[in-house]
Amino acid sequence: MCGIIGYTGRNKAVPYLLTGLERLEYRGYDSSGIALIDESGISVVKRKGKVSALRQAVGDNFTATAGIGHTRWATHGEPSQLNAHPHLSENGMFAVVHNGIIENCSEIKQELKQEGYSFLSDTDTEVISQLLEKNYRGNLITCLKDTLPQLQGSFALAVLHRDFPGTILCAKKDSPLIAAKSEDGCFVLSDTLAAREHISACYIMGDGELALITENSLSFFSADGTPLSKEPHFLSGCTDGADKGDFPHFMLKEIYEQPAALRDTLSAYVKEGRIVFPGFCLSEREIKAIDKIHLVACGSAYHAALCSKYIFHQLTDKEASAHIASEFRYDSIPLSENSLVVIISQSGETADSLAALSLANSKGAKTLAVVNVENSSIAMKSQSLICTLAGTEISVATTKAYICQLAVLYLLALYIGSHSGGYAPSELLQQLLSLPEKVEKELLQNERALAAADLLKGSEHIYFIGRGTDYALSMEGALKMKEISYIHCEAYPAGELKHGTISLIEKSTPVVALCLRKDLFRKTLSAIKEVRARGAFVIALTAAETAESLTDCDFVICIGSAVSDMLTPFLDAVPLQLMSYHTAVKRGCDVDKPRNLAKSVTVE
Ligand code: M6R
Repeated sequence: MCGIIGYTGRNKAVPYLLTGLERLEYRGYDSSGIALIDESGISVVKRKGKVSALRQAVGDNFTATAGIGHTRWATHGEPSQLNAHPHLSENGMFAVVHNGIIENCSEIKQELKQEGYSFLSDTDTEVISQLLEKNYRGNLITCLKDTLPQLQGSFALAVLHRDFPGTILCAKKDSPLIAAKSEDGCFVLSDTLAAREHISACYIMGDGELALITENSLSFFSADGTPLSKEPHFLSGCTDGADKGDFPHFMLKEIYEQPAALRDTLSAYVKEGRIVFPGFCLSEREIKAIDKIHLVACGSAYHAALCSKYIFHQLTDKEASAHIASEFRYDSIPLSENSLVVIISQSGETADSLAALSLANSKGAKTLAVVNVENSSIAMKSQSLICTLAGTEISVATTKAYICQLAVLYLLALYIGSHSGGYAPSELLQQLLSLPEKVEKELLQNERALAAADLLKGSEHIYFIGRGTDYALSMEGALKMKEISYIHCEAYPAGELKHGTISLIEKSTPVVALCLRKDLFRKTLSAIKEVRARGAFVIALTAAETAESLTDCDFVICIGSAVSDMLTPFLDAVPLQLMSYHTAVKRGCDVDKPRNLAKSVTVE
């Protein structure tokens, strides 16, 4: 994971590169750099830290009209100026930016060192620039096609050659790369967001493809160097998400965008009271034949899977299970043509989820992607596709995309239930459709969440507990809190505490107890009493009807709207997000770009 942008055209390249890199910072932000090319050669500027540091270093000095840029999330080598991309080859002939991992870089490095090449950085990328220089015989495409088979792993590459100002060479395998034309030049990008206002159509490079980009032309080649003709993808008119508006952080803006995101997602798939999924290509017979549903994802998307697993069991006659994508591959799970594997991902580029999808496809399972980015790798490699319509999500901590994943998964459970003899009550669909207004009401919890954050901001540890879907939400609440506030948080099924973890509870240990589900309230109340008896400081999230029974708790957030137990996850998500947000702000953390993280995790 890293962000790449290249521009070649009639205007100065620097403004495009720097603005693009700022937009790509969600992919990594530990260091960044650009290489500019003109008749006088290649100039490189790199800095450790955010793109703002690079912007300052670059200043107004460069007039070149072509260049490449990179924002990094470190895999090989610490975050530093030296390890930042672009990387030059031995004699400065090539400059390379790279997203992905070269798995055999140690072997290549050793061989090249024996041949006299020297290395300045600890990165895997530097072997690519050195190999390109070694293999260069006067033709750029030939050089690239001869070099790539030597690399094992994943890559999206943008490359400059000293003797070809105005030309950018590109290649892609298992990391996204997109080429696009604008009115005054051409781009290569990890994500169209980086130059969204300049482009209306783009060419999504496939695995193994190469490209040569000049001021006026985009030429594509297959791995053996044969020219390829590619169809453009037209981008929707929407250019949302690129700025924060009046909000201090993207995360807060995106929390407040949840009602609209939910409305857009629900209305895309519910027409005249019926659920319609144009991209879900299973016949009624195939739906009936499904014997197992595997919900596979990472991070928050996994929590959406975990939560909806309970719903699949309530609404369908199918067995469903939630899997962490990076583990799914090592579990030898039996898959057949009657297995439905649902890959859930905001970015659609998460490497572990993509690998799980490839495995499911290769084993003959039916595959369905639930993604927020329509042209992403997961969307394109899956047999069926349902997009969440959350709009662009910038903050590393997901909020609106997560809630839209829940909405799509609930609709899917209803859809499968109604097509295969399960239980699909029309009242539930009506309640789902009323969620945008209810979520809007929960945004009024902001003041309560702020007060809770005051109580939590000094904590070293926080435990989150719940049962059933409340447990799935505890997992999400704990992840949200830890990733942005750096407080150690753990989530437990409320009934499991007494089997070990309760020994960690002492006087004033914060416990966030989720007891939204009325059917499980009494049981969770027992767990609250157990931790209270050991001195825990309890913040409880509950429904209005049950709040009175929680007089013993230190702080109660009362969920305003009445919904069926099945739908409470949509409502408790909001105060949990706000509580994490305010806690992180009060601790002075970089909310939108938490340390060590990136939004899109394109390495395994
Ligand atoms: O793009 P994806 O949905 O596949 O990303 C999965 C996780 O990396 C993501 O949900 C991550 O856990 C978020 N930072 C959580 O807020």
